[in-house]
Amino acid sequence: MTEKEIRCLVREYAPEELPSGLKAIVDKAKEMTSTSYAPYSRFRVGAAILLESGEIVGGSNQENAAFPATMCAERSAAFWAGANRPGVAFRKIAIAAATDEGFQQQPISPCGTCRQALLEYEKRFGPIEVVLYGAARIFVVPSVSDLMPLSFTEF
Ligand code: THU
Repeated sequence: MTEKEIRCLVREYAPEELPSGLKAIVDKAKEMTSTSYAPYSRFRVGAAILLESGEIVGGSNQENAAFPATMCAERSAAFWAGANRPGVAFRKIAIAAATDEGFQQQPISPCGTCRQALLEYEKRFGPIEVVLYGAARIFVVPSVSDLMPLSFTEF
């Protein structure tokens, strides 16, 4: 038997320390929370993806009365980019969330299904840096695979 430890590097920034190169994508993720349709959870999630072209595309969660039909913000952004900018690599994704009280204080992290979906874009195009916004602190993780070790893959 051997034991292996899998590590995940997380960079933590205070809001005022956020690198200038991440500001636009974080601002877009925050802005996208206002396009969320979340009458059931009242938890508005926004996501922004920086493409290799320099374009930033956004998505937000879109809920449904049949709850499992809901689409998360991260996949809404990723699938929009995949459908409308086919073949263009994703470089970074930022995620933010707000309630009626304002932006979440702590970083918001993608659910397992979104991690799995994003992982496939990463396998096609290379590492996607993940920026998890919270009003109190921001986490930056080098890639989606860091967030999902030992993930399913068939290729
Ligand atoms: N949600 C996202 O948009 N992204 C995630 O990674 C997790 C959860 C949404 C789904 C639902 O509309 C609301 O947040 C509450 O779960």
